[in-house]
Amino acid sequence: MEVLIEETAHNVAKRVADFVERLIVTSPAPVLGLATGATPVLAYQELIRRYRAGTLSFERTRVFLLDEYVGLAAGHPGSYGSTIRRELIDHIDMATDALMVPASDAASLRASSHCYDAEIRDAGGIDLQLLGIGSQGHIGFNEPGSSLSSRTRIKTLAASTRRDNGRFFGGADEVPRHAVTQGIGTILDARQLLLIAIGSTKAKAVAAAVEGPITSMVPASALQLHPHATVVLDHSAAADLQLAEYYAVVQRHKPQWLRPEQAAE
Ligand code: GLP
Repeated sequence: MEVLIEETAHNVAKRVADFVERLIVTSPAPVLGLATGATPVLAYQELIRRYRAGTLSFERTRVFLLDEYVGLAAGHPGSYGSTIRRELIDHIDMATDALMVPASDAASLRASSHCYDAEIRDAGGIDLQLLGIGSQGHIGFNEPGSSLSSRTRIKTLAASTRRDNGRFFGGADEVPRHAVTQGIGTILDARQLLLIAIGSTKAKAVAAAVEGPITSMVPASALQLHPHATVVLDHSAAADLQLAEYYAVVQRHKPQWLRPEQAAE
């Protein structure tokens, strides 16, 4: 696992945008996995800025969203489908039918969850999956206790998740009880994982995920099993890492041929 610690949240955003841009310019048919929540917003703004500057086009890009609430009316502003359109898709040149969101209507739930993994496979798999992290270590809506080999399915949200996400609704009680989320096994199938965390409220979860044991009690610790996982943090989110100094040394002395700008050539 590679750990990148940046001075500011803006630097984190630029770093994340660099990863996305590198994929888009090097792949003929890039497939991105995107997350919502507050964490990736600055990175999305940076991507929009690059699109507007004419240096980046999303015309060939397909997106699979990580998760979606169950039971919200179509177009509800708190739904993740609406959120990703509002924060990114509506502002770039991606084809409107190139965004895939896990189906979360009650009628088709069982079949469609299974289909989502098949749709990802049919698209050739996800090249780069962006992830945030919940304050108790969840990724997507894979709450503590989730199977590390789980596939896309419905999950019941933990009370702490509903509390944390109440700010996007009218309070915790308004947050749906259920969501459909890519499973941890689904996430691990992506060719590259990029977990982003900003702020001190994530420090404990980040340390447990990056340096603690691999356990379903900290779903993000499953990233340790992935051959190409990168964690991009600001200083506050990195505060509880034991090996922070070592991660900085790794970056300072990274051989030139391993640097991303080289890899993109
Ligand atoms: C939600 C989402 C996750 C997200 C997490 C952190 O529960 N399902 O995908 O990573 O919250 O969100 P935030 O970035 O707002 O802290």
